[in-house]
Amino acid sequence: MTPIIDGSGFREAVLAGLSARPRRIPCRFLYDTAGVALFERITALDSYPLCRAETALLDRHAADIAARVGAVTTVIEPGAGTMVKTRRLLAALDPVAYVPIDVAGAVLQEAARSLAGEFPRLAIVPMVADFTAGLTLPPGLDRSGPVLVFFPGSTIGNLSPAAARDFLAGCGRLAGAGGWVLVGVDPVRDPRLLHRAYDDPQGVTAAFTRNLLVRANRELGADFALGQFDHRAWWNAREGRMELHLVCTSTQQVTVAGCSFLFRSGDTIHVEDCYKYAPEHFHWLARQAGLSPAATWLDEDGLFSLHLLRPGAAPRLPS
Ligand code: AVJ
Repeated sequence: MTPIIDGSGFREAVLAGLSARPRRIPCRFLYDTAGVALFERITALDSYPLCRAETALLDRHAADIAARVGAVTTVIEPGAGTMVKTRRLLAALDPVAYVPIDVAGAVLQEAARSLAGEFPRLAIVPMVADFTAGLTLPPGLDRSGPVLVFFPGSTIGNLSPAAARDFLAGCGRLAGAGGWVLVGVDPVRDPRLLHRAYDDPQGVTAAFTRNLLVRANRELGADFALGQFDHRAWWNAREGRMELHLVCTSTQQVTVAGCSFLFRSGDTIHVEDCYKYAPEHFHWLARQAGLSPAATWLDEDGLFSLHLLRPGAAPRLPS
């Protein structure tokens, strides 16, 4: 049955996205409870080293990060998910409060509960929200001390460069003068590595993107024939991004929330972008957002980078 009220905006996004050319559905809809579980499985794959590389970087440099930022009162994490990497940072910074923000409400609550068990003195204030719609803080949050906005996992890569710049500027405003922004960025731009990472031999990433259609069938009463949409991932060198698509393999009529859509063989639905930034390229983006790079850590295999940024630098005008 089609739910009448859908607070996430999934219905509107799918109907609009399938009517547009090219067809495109915002990637946040990939991350429902099942999607987050599939993404967790991706992060364990040999072919997807990104997450392990970031965790290793955080483990190795947590003390250095803590020494550079000094006392931090509040850590804010947009797109917190399961908060696996956050534990390392919280242990090193020992803040008073932690504000995880995510669209996956059930995942967020569960992760916050288990985190509370490990950090009994920490005030955890979860917020169910789409952080791409703007960052606001829960009322009553103590803002008297320094704030660090933590944005790991190369989630920044899901945004277009213009949206990433605006989002970083928002992080800077949230952190404020005297605050910090710590961002995890994937610097890998080798198409061979990327194809393996985003089209793994076990088909976990394919299940992850197809889950969008499973979700539409369940939540919107759609009738996508799952076997007739293939997962495809390719490197778009001009845009500097991996693109994830669902490609239709036969002509078919699909009904979604009572509306009919025609697909021909080869038609695609664009479901995710993953932009990649070499360190100097990311520094440029950060400066455009009014943030100045304070420190950058890169692992020796060049698989991941962590950027510590300071709000308040004057944005550079393009020359
Ligand atoms: C969650 C955006 C960091 O870009 O690598 C992984 C998403 N999609 N495999 C990434 C993803 C398919 C992931 N991020």
